[in-house]
Amino acid sequence: MRKKIVAGNWKMNLDYNEGLALFSEIINMVNDEITGTQQAVICSPFIHIHSLVQLAKGYHKVAVGAQNAHQAESGAYTGEISAKMIKSTGAAYVILGHSERRQYFGETNALLAQKTDTVLKHDLTPIFCIGETLQEREAETHFDVIKTQLVEGIFHLSAEDFGKLVIAYEPVWAIGTGVTATSAQAQEIHDFIRKEIAAKYNQAVADATTILYGGSCNPKNAAELFAQADIDGGLIGGASLKSRDFLDIVKTFN
Ligand code: 13P
Repeated sequence: MRKKIVAGNWKMNLDYNEGLALFSEIINMVNDEITGTQQAVICSPFIHIHSLVQLAKGYHKVAVGAQNAHQAESGAYTGEISAKMIKSTGAAYVILGHSERRQYFGETNALLAQKTDTVLKHDLTPIFCIGETLQEREAETHFDVIKTQLVEGIFHLSAEDFGKLVIAYEPVWAIGTGVTATSAQAQEIHDFIRKEIAAKYNQAVADATTILYGGSCNPKNAAELFAQADIDGGLIGGASLKSRDFLDIVKTFN
């Protein structure tokens, strides 16, 4: 059975106290309401991470992650945060290659391949994001775009290392727009991703890979999306900033 994961991406929202207050609500609700084996993850800004890990002690159904990491081990990179630093807080996950990092910070597939190596080296789980823009979908190049992101970003990994990562399919046109991919559109791409993994590695590796959907996922559409054969959970932006909405999405797997 593949691991079911619902991860919240807070992006650049919530000051320190607001973040701790929201996270406290989330862990209490997870404790009270989650009856399944799904994993809830909160990927917060760096400033919250250490405190969230402390709050989450003893709550095994909730893990904490970062939203980025630098590719280098350490050094003169003013303002950056290394994978080793993230690991030292007790965080478990790192989002890599989010479309906002690709779009606003120029992150390329080649750079993301390096970041993936560094994050895995420090025993953190990458949540590796891929997805096409509206323009690419309209030009019907979305399958090619996704294949290139896989090949250049993560297909250099050994099968063993590949087995340690989580993939998130986030169509850029669905992020923060309120326009969700239909469950059929999302399933079509998840199926494609899994087949590409099987072709590159083998069916067992493909079957074991958790592939999340992200993009305007909310408590109303989560059940239908997560019921698709190849959708193993979600990467949630806006709805992860409200404890009730986030919990209702996590509860889809109860
Ligand atoms: P929204 O859920 O706000 O569309 O954001 C999705 C996302 O980018 C998660 O990483």
